[in-house]
Amino acid sequence: MTIRAVKGMNDVLPDEIGRWHELETVLRRRLELAGYREVRTPVLEPTELFVRSIGEATEIVEKQMFVLERSGESLALRPEGTAGVARAYLQGTLHAKEPVSRLYYLGPMFRAEQPQRGRYRQFWQVGAEIYGDHGPGCDAEMIDLLVGMLSELGIGQLRVLVNSLGSAGTRARYREALRAHLTPRAESLSEHAKKRLADNPLRILDSKNPRDREALEGAPSILDLLEPEDRAHWDGLQRALTALGTPYEVSPGLVRGLDYYTRTLFEIQSTAGEMGSQNALLGGGRYDGMVKELGGPDIPAIGFAIGLERMLLAMPARDRAPAARCFIAPLGAAAADQALLIARELQNAGIQAEADTRGGSLKSLLRRADASASRLCFVLGDTELERGVVALKDLQARTQEEVPRAEVVARARALLSAPPAAAGGSA
Ligand code: HAM
Repeated sequence: MTIRAVKGMNDVLPDEIGRWHELETVLRRRLELAGYREVRTPVLEPTELFVRSIGEATEIVEKQMFVLERSGESLALRPEGTAGVARAYLQGTLHAKEPVSRLYYLGPMFRAEQPQRGRYRQFWQVGAEIYGDHGPGCDAEMIDLLVGMLSELGIGQLRVLVNSLGSAGTRARYREALRAHLTPRAESLSEHAKKRLADNPLRILDSKNPRDREALEGAPSILDLLEPEDRAHWDGLQRALTALGTPYEVSPGLVRGLDYYTRTLFEIQSTAGEMGSQNALLGGGRYDGMVKELGGPDIPAIGFAIGLERMLLAMPARDRAPAARCFIAPLGAAAADQALLIARELQNAGIQAEADTRGGSLKSLLRRADASASRLCFVLGDTELERGVVALKDLQARTQEEVPRAEVVARARALLSAPPAAAGGSA
């Protein structure tokens, strides 16, 4: 029996990788223009890191982590990037070296979820975090940067949802207000929500269960209970978003699945392209308490993570330029040695080239050249070797010419830098 990939974990094959590179290039460039620098952290972290930061009473920590034991230590495959970056920020004492740190990362995350379109067990994120800036201007700048990135990538039909969860005091008051609303309706809640009512009632706001949705009708809004400093922050965020002209919707029910959030919370959804029910392209928010919770100083933080698979589902297909590649087709053993030399010369000159020294007739070599989607094909046999030339076919323009052996690189460069001539002619 052939071995298959783990359920919910996908390969990215060469035909698909071009779109990934296109997406990653735009994201990296925009992040670096905004002053973020890349960090790379391990895929495995102590399980305790995620329990302490994401929160014990969350779906991710309770049910979705891939945990393994090694030499008596409990390790987890990272379900998200924020906790590891915060740990690295502290461990690398970046807080002592710079007042504000802007960091970004790209990598695979792991969650044991029920796989479906847009939801996988291994998925890729590009995320970014800012440490050391508590002001709402920083939050607005981040949301605006994300809207700009999505527009550059041609992703439309966006909903930018924002909310505030306030600080600990606001949340404690809101938790009680929500409990007071839901307790008389507890009998009609789902089993899951009944449990959350005791340990983490805010999570019930996330529920899609119709019974929970009904019980939530008329529930108080956290935005009505914000303490004065939280309210000033929330008003500042909205003012800055308005000044930037960033479109947004206030969404008081937005809580998201991680317990570390404080104050600003946001999510961008899209119904473009092939997006199904998993319509959140990205999410993020402020988590002012995490660095201290992990044993560091009291440093505010905010960040986001973009799901790359979902971005690819939403991104429009674009026409790709044909590969600027050379195929070298030798006829005979002596020509095969020359073919390897030509391929090396072209590669050293920065031109993509491959020699096919498997042998075969001219016809079969030309067929392979076509199949390789190359733009140019160099053919050489004994006659060409003797005369010091190479036959050059432009497979796109359907033209052919003879090139002196010494001019192969210069001619390839000239042809590849010019758009292909109309098909049909022959030189
Ligand atoms: P999150 O909302 O859990 O936030 O994930 C962010 C994005 O990752 C989602 O909007 C979605 O696009 C993608 N994603 C999440 N789970 C899956 C999955 N199973 N399959 C495919 N894509 C998925 C975080 O991870 C936070 N660390 C964001 C953050 C950074 N908050 C502050 N800083």
